[in-house]
Amino acid sequence: MSGAGNSLGFRADTLAIHAGQEPDPISGAVMTPIVLASTFAQDGPAVMRGPYDYSRAGNPTRTALEQCLAALEGATHGIAFGSGCAAMTAVLMTLKSGDHVLVGDDVYGGTFRIFDKVMKQFGLDATFMDMSDPAKVREAIRPNTRMIWVETPSNPMLKVFDIAALAEVAKKARLTLVVDNTFATPMLQRPLDLGATAVVHSTTKYLNGHSDVVGGAALTSDKELAEKLHFLQKAVGGVPSPFDCYMVLRGLKTLGVRIRQHVQSAKVLVDLLSRHKQVARVFYPGLESHPGHAIAARQMKGFGGMISFDLRVGDKGTAPSAAFLKALRVFTCAESLGGVESLAELPAIMTHASLTPEARQAAGIGDGLIRLSVGLEDIEDLEEDLDRGFRAAEAAL
Ligand SMILES: Cc1ncc(COP(=O)(O)O)c(C=O)c1O
Repeated sequence: MSGAGNSLGFRADTLAIHAGQEPDPISGAVMTPIVLASTFAQDGPAVMRGPYDYSRAGNPTRTALEQCLAALEGATHGIAFGSGCAAMTAVLMTLKSGDHVLVGDDVYGGTFRIFDKVMKQFGLDATFMDMSDPAKVREAIRPNTRMIWVETPSNPMLKVFDIAALAEVAKKARLTLVVDNTFATPMLQRPLDLGATAVVHSTTKYLNGHSDVVGGAALTSDKELAEKLHFLQKAVGGVPSPFDCYMVLRGLKTLGVRIRQHVQSAKVLVDLLSRHKQVARVFYPGLESHPGHAIAARQMKGFGGMISFDLRVGDKGTAPSAAFLKALRVFTCAESLGGVESLAELPAIMTHASLTPEARQAAGIGDGLIRLSVGLEDIEDLEEDLDRGFRAAEAAL
């Protein structure tokens, strides 16, 4: 089952363990070897012995990861990078100066920063907008628009956008639709099946799942885009190390069981938070009151392990939310998400500090907004931990 194309017919849990990976032909090792070599012997000048000549251009451990990720997303091509940001930047580098991108208004702060502080310098223009109404997205298309970029569920407000409807808009206007699938993972949502052109991931998160790798990937079945991305991977060189590729491959093997438990535990905590008097609002696509619930129920197999909620902070700024986070003993106060361990953070001053205050306000990222990445610890310990946080927040009011 080595190539992504050979994986057709197998289901996600099987692909996560086997796609792109055969027992090693020399030793029979059932786990993919970590090939650390930077260069590969040639049979003569420019006479390649196999598919590899130099590890920036290609590496067997990286190929295994790329094929596994491509198979999981239903893509024909996988292109791995040294971080999610490097993957996103490479996708944007397929555009040129003077082009315009429509971007969802609720995206990871670092994504906003790539558009606002990096790509802008090279003449790439971006409009951030709420993508809930596909008709408005259609109206916002300019003659120089080339791409629609959306994160769903989004970070940190857990907004949900209709991928199939956006794909329709993109197709009619001959635009590329890129979906950041980091929050959902292919276990819960496959954007390419819904018509997206490409998927980007921070493999740092659920795909690796153990908070010990920084990595990224782009997956697509668009041959032309894949060629450009392979070229950029080699030419710009933002590649992951073979060791990190191995680590992500190892993490992927348990992705299905991990995600199922993340979803189950998140549901319990959403129930707790929804009933709590200190919580003004819970943001979770699984709630029937969530504006994107019907779309999420249609396009996702489960609602994910990420929860955001608004803690009542009165006129005390971030003091009650900071007290909440400091009191936690099981959740760790840290950025990032998707690991086995539960994390809690304050987007306004942590993950989304790179947004302008106006952009934060427009997105609804206030002093009381707390984002939880629900891990795999015992659910009763997680419930008790949140109680600990609420008691500390009340004392700070
Ligand atoms: C949704 C999303 N996309 C992309 C990224 C960037 O990934 P990385 O940190 O691996 O560069 C992040 C990081 O938090 C993220 O949350």
